[in-house]
Amino acid sequence: MKTVCLPSGETVPALGIGTWYLGEFAKHRADEIACIRLALDSGVRLIDTAEMYGEGAAEKLVGEAIAGRREEAFLVSKVYPYNASRQDAIAACERSLKRLGTDHLDLYLLHWRGGVPFEETLEAFTRLKATGKIRHFGVSNLDTDDMEEWYASAGGQACATNQVLYNLGRRGIELNLLPWLRQHKTPVMAYSPIEQARLLHTQTLRDFARDTGISPLHAALGWLLAQDDVIAIPRTGRPEHLREILQAAQSPLSAEHVAELDRLFPRPKRPIPLEML
Ligand SMILES: NC(=O)c1ccc[n+]([C@@H]2O[C@H](COP(=O)([O-])OP(=O)(O)OC[C@H]3O[C@@H](n4cnc5c(N)ncnc54)[C@H](OP(=O)(O)O)[C@@H]3O)[C@@H](O)[C@H]2O)c1
Repeated sequence: MKTVCLPSGETVPALGIGTWYLGEFAKHRADEIACIRLALDSGVRLIDTAEMYGEGAAEKLVGEAIAGRREEAFLVSKVYPYNASRQDAIAACERSLKRLGTDHLDLYLLHWRGGVPFEETLEAFTRLKATGKIRHFGVSNLDTDDMEEWYASAGGQACATNQVLYNLGRRGIELNLLPWLRQHKTPVMAYSPIEQARLLHTQTLRDFARDTGISPLHAALGWLLAQDDVIAIPRTGRPEHLREILQAAQSPLSAEHVAELDRLFPRPKRPIPLEML
């Protein structure tokens, strides 16, 4: 599977999996756990979660799914902005570790910008790293001006990723944030890569699928994975959907198909503020 290089030099497969809304309903639990395990069996390592997801329920599900095979996973979790202060971020991370049943996270992100100064969050992240509770840290939902401020804050240059909304229909970052991140060798983690499944039902992608035989899912994920520094983290609670995702990631699109999707889903003409879901 294609890999993306993090600023530390470590590589991770460009396809990871998301966990928003997982772990919330007992009747889906077995399928959701099967999905996470199937992902690991298939070489997907990066599992994205957050203390916010089901108020810890997603982290608990992930913990159960990876029990006994922690070393196969690259675990990403996120701290609520209101927990991101000097003291609270340490406590929030420890709660996440407990729910996940591990002693360290591979990557810990500030979920979005809140009222806590970046310096405080960075102090906490730096301490967590020094004590081995996290291996890397990064951010999510920061636009270019926020990234500049993060980078200018003490320790901020050790930023492993910016996790943002990015898919065929949300290409605003290509005008400013993405070039900025590339200049700083910071990969993007693309969340909602299929726009919570809404992209799959657009007439444009259905027509593309009819004309090319490439499914809407394959087109949407393949377009993201065609870029060298983009990690995509689709989410599913259904093993049959995960199999489609895995197949899509294993069959890169041709340059012609990528160019056609670029044409069908043009980037905005003028810069727009970073979009969030
Ligand atoms: N940092 C942030 O602020 C932020 C914000 C949003 C998301 N995220 C992260 O990014 C992850 C992914 O984003 P997302 O969950 O918003 O949306 P997404 O991955 O774009 O879409 C998820 C939806 O697509 C469906 N789906 C998945 N595979 C499918 C397939 N093969 N065929 C048909 N439908 C399929 C899923 O339903 P089924 O379960 O029925 O398959 C689910 O409803 C999240 O889970 C989370 O980890 C981060």
